[in-house]
Amino acid sequence: MADPKLLTICGSLRKGSFNRKLLENAVEAFGAAEVMDADLNLPLFNEDLEAAEGIPASVQALADQLEAADGVIISCPEYNKGITGVLKNALDWISRTKGTKFAGKPTVVLSANAGRTGGETGQFTVVHCLLPMQPQLVLGPMVLVAGAHNEFDEAGKLKGELYQKALSARMEALRAALG
Ligand SMILES: Cc1cc2nc3c(=O)[nH]c(=O)nc-3n(C[C@H](O)[C@H](O)[C@H](O)COP(=O)(O)O)c2cc1C
Repeated sequence: MADPKLLTICGSLRKGSFNRKLLENAVEAFGAAEVMDADLNLPLFNEDLEAAEGIPASVQALADQLEAADGVIISCPEYNKGITGVLKNALDWISRTKGTKFAGKPTVVLSANAGRTGGETGQFTVVHCLLPMQPQLVLGPMVLVAGAHNEFDEAGKLKGELYQKALSARMEALRAALG
């Protein structure tokens, strides 16, 4: 059987993003998969732009990746207790593309943050923003990497055993959800 196709979506555009590192750890914990990575460097959503030019090619490329994916892993930092602008912008664009791309798609939400809560409120906000698109949320103990600047080694590996265990358990659940 072919390896499942995973789409990773990072809610931070920062080059050294801890959320991207967390996604890399998640993919490794998942095991054999064909991995696509989303590029959220998209135009700002504007209904005037949409009316004048339609769906931008970069947005359609993301929608096509999502359509092709068997499962999705999102990791997003909490910004001021909420979702980042780049992820919300991408979700708004995706919601304007043809078809219900997220509907029924097994989806995991993670987060890594500087703060002590690991961005719990922000992660709830991401889930909240996904609900209108009706993904199949793959739940489990929340993976909230707190004090993220101390939690990854130089190679980008998660140092804490508890985080690794939680991440592996969630990736097993994702694999099971893919059937
Ligand atoms: C605009 C902004 C708002 C932030 N708000 C929060 C916050 O509410 N909670 C928190 O734990 N960290 C907050 N941070 C710190 C982020 O957790 C930290 O910058 C983190 O490394 C961002 O994720 P990244 O490494 O994937 O880019 C904020 C950072 C920025 C730039």
